[in-house]
Amino acid sequence: MIPISRPAIGKEELKAVKEVIESGTLSSGAVTKDFEKCFSQYIETEHAIATSSGTSALQVGIEALDINKGSEVITTPFSFIASSNALLFNYLKPVFADIDPDSFNIDPEELEEKITQRTRAVLVVHLYGNPCRMKEIVELCEDHNLILIEDCAQAAGAEYCNRKVGSFGDISCFSFYATKNMVSGEGGMIVTGNEELAERARLLRNHGQNGQYNHVMLGYNYRMTDIQAAIAREQLRKLDKLNAKRIENAKFLTEQLAGIENIETPTVGKDIKHVFHQYTIKVLGGKRDAVLQALNRNGVGARVYYQKPIYAQPIYQRVGLVSRCPVAEEIVDQVISLPVHPMLSRAELKSVVKGVENAVKT
Ligand SMILES: Cc1ncc(COP(=O)(O)O)c(C=O)c1O
Repeated sequence: MIPISRPAIGKEELKAVKEVIESGTLSSGAVTKDFEKCFSQYIETEHAIATSSGTSALQVGIEALDINKGSEVITTPFSFIASSNALLFNYLKPVFADIDPDSFNIDPEELEEKITQRTRAVLVVHLYGNPCRMKEIVELCEDHNLILIEDCAQAAGAEYCNRKVGSFGDISCFSFYATKNMVSGEGGMIVTGNEELAERARLLRNHGQNGQYNHVMLGYNYRMTDIQAAIAREQLRKLDKLNAKRIENAKFLTEQLAGIENIETPTVGKDIKHVFHQYTIKVLGGKRDAVLQALNRNGVGARVYYQKPIYAQPIYQRVGLVSRCPVAEEIVDQVISLPVHPMLSRAELKSVVKGVENAVKT
């Protein structure tokens, strides 16, 4: 099976982990601090706060914003559930705005329509490594005095108008989960330009401690360990190269898959650096499930991200967060993500193409 992801871990990460283990500091320490500094320099934001996962980054980052309970936050229904769950954990109401069928990201016009007196924030997700239309979204937030939160879990290194995603939001969150463009096994990061928000997030991450055993607020243990940070710091050094390989692989797939009946390959908008966390095609004509099964049978580890809009998940239905987003509802039955990761050989990429050609004939 050609897997949908394979971590690009080398001798540099092994050496870095060995050094941490030999140092005796296995928890959060100097390596985590240095990784935070490197990451904030890379994104070009003032502050970076490393966490145990992308989920804890979102939860704590949003809690640091201190938005009134019950406020509405406009977000996308087409994402991994963690983005919108982070709102629920903070007693905020996700309001789902439909997506653009070509970029798969929240549609700024739909977003604008959902703004009400109760809206306090917007949470965008740069899905599959593809940046949202940030110019329009930033303008909307400014015009309506809304807080902007970016979920960059799938988009480390992606750019909009030559600016890294994560540098637009009041707070932005990243994930370094094992399948992401840069990995630490589990891990996450909050970035912000706001000193006060950064300080609150730092406190929330570490039991609300502002000094040894002095607790000024209720907090969690959402710290990153130095073992994770050692891996992530090496991965950050390699990130641009790894992303360049993903982009090259995506270009090859798009060229080779052109003209196949019922297959639409991904498009990349103007001024956008899409870093292809996923290479996602649309299968038209109601053939998605048959094509997926044929691909898997023939050794291509294709997957569907995601099978339903978030509001159609049982837990959302149960708590009454019912919504209708017709584009997202259509897209969930069309998408297939193909292997595009940087560890693929040219022979494997050719097998993916052959696999698609054969699968559409079944
Ligand atoms: C869009 C999105 N948000 C949030 C997360 C949560 O990150 P983590 O798995 O590191 O908790 C993920 C990834 O898993 C994701 O894809």
